[in-house]
Amino acid sequence: MPLDSVEEFRDKRDQALQYIQDQTDLRPNYLLILGTGLGHLADEMDVELSISYADIPNFPVSTVESHAGKLLFGTLAGKQVVAMQGRFHYYEGYTMQEIVFPIRVLKEKGADTLLVSNACGGLNTNYRRGDIMLINDHINMLGDNPLIGPNDDELGPRFPDMSEPYTERLLELAETVALEKGIKMHQGVYLALSGPMLETKAEYRFLGMIGADVVGMSTVPEVISAVHMGMDVLGISVITDECFPDALEPVVIEDVLEAAGMAEPKLSQVFMGVLERL
Ligand code: HPA
Repeated sequence: MPLDSVEEFRDKRDQALQYIQDQTDLRPNYLLILGTGLGHLADEMDVELSISYADIPNFPVSTVESHAGKLLFGTLAGKQVVAMQGRFHYYEGYTMQEIVFPIRVLKEKGADTLLVSNACGGLNTNYRRGDIMLINDHINMLGDNPLIGPNDDELGPRFPDMSEPYTERLLELAETVALEKGIKMHQGVYLALSGPMLETKAEYRFLGMIGADVVGMSTVPEVISAVHMGMDVLGISVITDECFPDALEPVVIEDVLEAAGMAEPKLSQVFMGVLERL
């Protein structure tokens, strides 16, 4: 769905919104995006309504097997939330506008805070497989951007500021929660590339040199779109493999999913602890 005009976008968004509206009056403030292998946080949710992406007009449909492709409305840690179980990746062939379409619909449905998770490769040699990292900044190397094209001034400004994409207050809160629960959590920079292949040793060396702590294939489009709309953002990465150029081992998706599964309880505890305190 390339965004031809602001009117076309609004029509499509409003159709999707109307479909959801017809099923629930809930207006959850918190939008959760559950990344690769990280969908189990939904099990902690008291789910009131589940909608398949495939049923929502104009919603893209998730093609990755490890992503369920469902929107869940309900309660988590005492807060009304909507969770995206499954997200859209650039490597699947979606446009940037398609990738962020759900965020734009759910913002209109009341979400003003984005809690986002992902699986990533660790570049920082202090990080280990199965660790988690609070994202305090990002580098967009996707080669594309969801804000390219006509700007809907009602969504946000043409030239949005990116001096604090990850909300300082939420970073502090997450640090407090991790400390209280005795969870080891790093803090660093997430760099997004298109994928779908993992990177070469030379690429990992380069990415580390330019200031990235981890590398992945998601999150940045959604965060850019959320910041554009003035939403608060908290992002947590799970390190599923170690991308150290001088000691690189081959990685298969099964290893990624296994490490995501190992780390998921930590991520869930931090997200729930933050929600409780908000
Ligand atoms: N690159 C390297 N390793 C990874 C990635 C990636 O994009 N995602 C998960 N592990």
